[in-house]
Amino acid sequence: MNKIRVGVLTSGGDCPGLNAVLRGVVLAAEKLGWEMIGFIDGFEGLLPPGRYMILDRHRTSGIMPLGGTIIGTTNRGHFVAKVGPGNRAVVATEVIEEARNVLERLEVSALIVIGGDGSMTTALQLQEAGINCIGVPKTIDNDLEATAMTFGFDSAVAAVADALDRLHTTATSHKRVMVLEVMGRHAGWIALHGGIAGGADAILIPEIPFDYEKLADFIRRREAAGSFGSLVVVAEGATAQDGQQVLHRSAVGEYRFGGIGEVVARELHARTGKETRCTVLGHLQRGGPPTTLDRILGTRFGVKAVQLANERLFGSMVSYQNYLVQHVPIFDAVNRLRLVQPTSQMVQTARDVEISFGD
Ligand code: F6P
Repeated sequence: MNKIRVGVLTSGGDCPGLNAVLRGVVLAAEKLGWEMIGFIDGFEGLLPPGRYMILDRHRTSGIMPLGGTIIGTTNRGHFVAKVGPGNRAVVATEVIEEARNVLERLEVSALIVIGGDGSMTTALQLQEAGINCIGVPKTIDNDLEATAMTFGFDSAVAAVADALDRLHTTATSHKRVMVLEVMGRHAGWIALHGGIAGGADAILIPEIPFDYEKLADFIRRREAAGSFGSLVVVAEGATAQDGQQVLHRSAVGEYRFGGIGEVVARELHARTGKETRCTVLGHLQRGGPPTTLDRILGTRFGVKAVQLANERLFGSMVSYQNYLVQHVPIFDAVNRLRLVQPTSQMVQTARDVEISFGD
């Protein structure tokens, strides 16, 4: 009898820990006597003739510390089922049929989809079309309601904390205000956790609109109390109380988040007279080796995905709840963002260590 063959793909933005998931999937699958194949560049690898590589213990040996994904990914292409928060698009029926034909021809009986909210929306459509899918949630933003944590987030937070440690010494030496713009379009988790870990003085997040004058006043009061350097972390989706999200037009004409850091730096300079500089951390938050926590979480997610496939719980997504890796229906998981609650203990903790949210 032929071996059971299962496919896996990574989709959407890359994220530290993806390779740990792949390794976990492969080792757990081999234990069951299955063969794993990894589709190249996300769902695009499912298009005829099918682009894939056999993933076995040798191919996945030593990949855990590597950032990115060894099978490639994309957040563009024929399967993009999401165009923005709440804006669901539909994958064309012909595209799904083409993918089904490729999977049948390759005798792939199930597909493990590692991706964010948009990729889960696509997985749901494949599942509804009769293709057996298991979801593994991925986002450095950690903003999926269906899982208490995603791998990649801890690595992103570590990158923010490291950047703040470096900015701290130059801020105090020059008595400057240093603004650090970090990722987080709709949710401020990276800014909040990274800001606390890196000893930020102010954290600006999308969930708590800020006031420039209050922020400037906070910097002035710090100075009056003898602190001449200040660190301000701002999530890319943060907005002033009377302002809008700051977007910029990319070289290819797309509107993207980014630019709020410069605006905040300009306003603070104008209002306090203090020399203010902005650093945009950008993709340094997404690249590089995963932290130990992300390696462990990624491994646990990968192993659980194979268990779910073995139990034929198709249409479900791995989910981390109460220190256990569990599962939820993909249907219940998509399109639900988990945002920072302004009254939460975490925000209060930040306020109690004298961090301002500019409100
Ligand atoms: O959703 C993850 C994320 O890293 C966001 O925090 C960020 O805004 C976005 O992806 C960047 O995507 P890209 O690499 O496509 O510019």
